[in-house]
Amino acid sequence: MRRFAYCKVVLATSLVWVMLDMFILLYFSECNKCDDKRERGLPGRDVLRPREGPGEGGKPVVISKENQEKMKEMFKINQFNLMASEMIAFNRTLPDVRLEGCKNKLYPDDLPRTSVVIVFHNEAWSTLLRTVRSVIDRSPKSLLEEVVLVDDASERDFLKRPLEQYVRRMEVPVRVVRMEQRSGLIRARLKGASLSTGQVITFLDAHCECTIGWLEPLLARIKLDRKTVVCPIIDVISDDTFEYMAGSDMTYGGFNWKLNFRWYPVPQREMDRRKGDRTLPVRTPTMAGGLFSIDRDYFKEIGTYDAGMDIWGGENLEISFRIWQCGGTLEIVTCSHVGHVFRKATPYTFPGGTGQIINKNNRRLAEVWMDQFKNFFYIISPGVTKVDYGDITSRSSLRQKLQCKPFSWYLENVYPDSQIPRHYYSLGEVFSYTANKEIRTDDLCLDVSKLSGPVMMLKCHHLKGNQLWEYDPMKLTLIHVNSNQCLDKASEEDSQVPSVRDCTHTRSQQWLLRNVTLPEIF
Ligand SMILES: *[C@@H]1O[C@H](CO)[C@@H](O)[C@H](O)[C@H]1NC(C)=O
Ligand SMILES: *[C@@H]1O[C@H](CO)[C@@H](O)[C@H](O)[C@H]1NC(C)=O
Repeated sequence: MRRFAYCKVVLATSLVWVMLDMFILLYFSECNKCDDKRERGLPGRDVLRPREGPGEGGKPVVISKENQEKMKEMFKINQFNLMASEMIAFNRTLPDVRLEGCKNKLYPDDLPRTSVVIVFHNEAWSTLLRTVRSVIDRSPKSLLEEVVLVDDASERDFLKRPLEQYVRRMEVPVRVVRMEQRSGLIRARLKGASLSTGQVITFLDAHCECTIGWLEPLLARIKLDRKTVVCPIIDVISDDTFEYMAGSDMTYGGFNWKLNFRWYPVPQREMDRRKGDRTLPVRTPTMAGGLFSIDRDYFKEIGTYDAGMDIWGGENLEISFRIWQCGGTLEIVTCSHVGHVFRKATPYTFPGGTGQIINKNNRRLAEVWMDQFKNFFYIISPGVTKVDYGDITSRSSLRQKLQCKPFSWYLENVYPDSQIPRHYYSLGEVFSYTANKEIRTDDLCLDVSKLSGPVMMLKCHHLKGNQLWEYDPMKLTLIHVNSNQCLDKASEEDSQVPSVRDCTHTRSQQWLLRNVTLPEIF
């Protein structure tokens, strides 16, 4: 019986394949006349007919021994393997990396149309045009209004007239817009957005590749609720080989005390909310920043970007906090996959240096959106309070006008698993003592692994155990509950670090926990 059922399945599957082959044959015989249509490709053909050639199917490109030296030289130009990139077709095939459940989802016909805005600065010809080609080839024409390329004052000749001439021939309007001087990602994106016309604006980086079905699920979420801002899953295109590697649907965006964007595992509560269906969008506390779609009017309504931020950095957290605190939703749409070349180093220099710019942007972000929780950032980033952050009155009044919720609401409701403790007893020079009775800095907690021995900072596990400390505000002791020993300051002879010892109630075991005010520290 079971064998029979198995045969039926095999028979049915082969029948489907035969029919598919016939369909493909038909399609091509008919399409011999229409070259144009042929080049655009049949949706899904990528998967059915892998092509031969470097990088096809998302495979890694291997550079021959004799070309290794040249490859290394070329790598320096853009901080990725330019030689490999130049070998790969602009319209290379890619694997369909979506979850099975995504492949036959249906979307409404009347989705909003999008403009795709891509900012570039001295980008390589091959990566830029592969980005554009993949957008055009893998987006339904009815949903793609235009592609807007914003040149942030590139210095390379091929990105001038040759680029304009090349994109003129494409089947979808591709505009090249020039910034008069180096303006940075934020201002260049604002310019691109203001000149585009689609109902939705989709921002992409200049070294991406869109995969089959990437666009429809993004636009469908915005159609459902125009205050939803959506990101695709960001797949990894290797900077060494241009191999295409699927990103995980089990990570989402967060940040640490230094306000660095970080990926973290999707927490159980978010799996539960979706009843375990991984094809449903994940609510994410923050976005990585490079790739997202947003309704044009909503983008304006919530204050686009902070134009007082320079160049790059911090703008992704700023827009993330703003979306959530001001009544929107930020999602990773797990059925949408876009690849991105991740580089280990940036090939660009910025006027004034990257560090200063990011500190300034982060200060604006902290001052406008984080309320008293900004102090976690300041305490872990010595010197940052000396950085001038300019005038923030217009952003603060935007927050007022939109009646945005406090940062504590965000931590409580959107990002309860954040590294920033929502409730704390004290925040001092070195650590915080949290309401969960951890002594903690960022994602590290004071831990005891040896009786009467030195303490260590280990990754917080939130299971209490060896990271549980009881503070006695009268006796000023910090008792390590598991061992019933007291935290003792480093004594010169035996060690440089504090230890736990039997409680003696001497001076070396007294700790004053209070909330310091920042001027005391800096
Ligand atoms: C890819 O592009 C090349 C060069 O323009 C063209 O000859 C080829 O037909 C295209 N292939 C597909 C599958 O569209
Ligand atoms: C420190 O500040 C936090 C947050 O405002 C507050 O909950 C806590 O009671 C304060 N602790 C002390 C010792 O004043």
